[in-house]
Amino acid sequence: MNFLITLTLGASLLIGTTAMAQDHIMRLSHGENENNPTHVMAAKFEELVEQYTDGRIDVQIFGSNQLGSEQEVAQSVRTGSIEAEILYTGNLVPLAPSIGVMMLPYAFTSTQEAHAAMDALQDPLNERLPKEAGVRVLGYLEKGFRVLTNSEREVRNLEDLQGLKIRVSKNNIAIETFRSWGLDPIPMAWAEVFPALQQGVIDGQENPYTTAVSMKFNEVQSYITEIHYLIWSGPLIVSERWYQGLDADLQEALNKAGREAAAFGRANSASETEVAMRALVEMGMTLSGAPEDEEKWQEAARALWPSFAEEIGGEEWVTEASSIIAEATADLSN
Ligand code: MLT
Repeated sequence: MNFLITLTLGASLLIGTTAMAQDHIMRLSHGENENNPTHVMAAKFEELVEQYTDGRIDVQIFGSNQLGSEQEVAQSVRTGSIEAEILYTGNLVPLAPSIGVMMLPYAFTSTQEAHAAMDALQDPLNERLPKEAGVRVLGYLEKGFRVLTNSEREVRNLEDLQGLKIRVSKNNIAIETFRSWGLDPIPMAWAEVFPALQQGVIDGQENPYTTAVSMKFNEVQSYITEIHYLIWSGPLIVSERWYQGLDADLQEALNKAGREAAAFGRANSASETEVAMRALVEMGMTLSGAPEDEEKWQEAARALWPSFAEEIGGEEWVTEASSIIAEATADLSN
């Protein structure tokens, strides 16, 4: 082969290989550091996507809110200026109300119920969310119950809770739920929570055990109460516009990787939750368990359900989603 032919062939092979090696970049944002189960799921997703697409999609992870707060990034995923994100359902609800059916206080009593509901809802949600919010769900992570932490006192009942400055995520379901317990909660972006705790702008917050550990909340919080009102659920969303521009085989690879990464993330979270709880106690936090008057907390929050219907996609969808959830969880609640 003469030099020119070799060069030409070599160059076209190189171009071919380059195109094949990386046709698409997929920036995946999340709001946690590398010690959190959200990052573990993100890393698994990256590995699986690159494996299933032979490297044609290059997943680049941006954690710790580097690309913006969870709610800001969700808006960018909607327009397609960021391709993907893993975020707390509560931070997606203002943009995508239909996903709020996972947010009703005390709707789930176990992580198994939440898994069954998330899995059964994923396809119906993907009929709605692309139109509603410009995003679709590839997989659904769960990180256990959100627990209440604070710096001031042990919260063993509703009376102890009164007067505390508690941060909640910026959605009406969280705000109204805490109001039903007699508080005036402080809605705040997740990225701002640690400094706000440090500076005493807020006394407390609620998030899963694994997050309390990865965020080192023990340095600024002393008390934990297992309020059990909500399981942390969070979808891996992708921009619908970007997704629709992909070849069918790449879409299929993303769907598969999303579901598998979510299963991996949930399993990791389950094993880390207990470890995190023990670590926080060992590091000096006082664990109060469930409130002694938990029924009152439940009664007040559950009474709000009918008022949330419009907030979470409207009556018709709530009825449809409720029957999907009831069917999916029937075997678990017997
Ligand atoms: C929040 O409280 O805003 C979220 O739970 C943070 C997160 O995504 O882990």
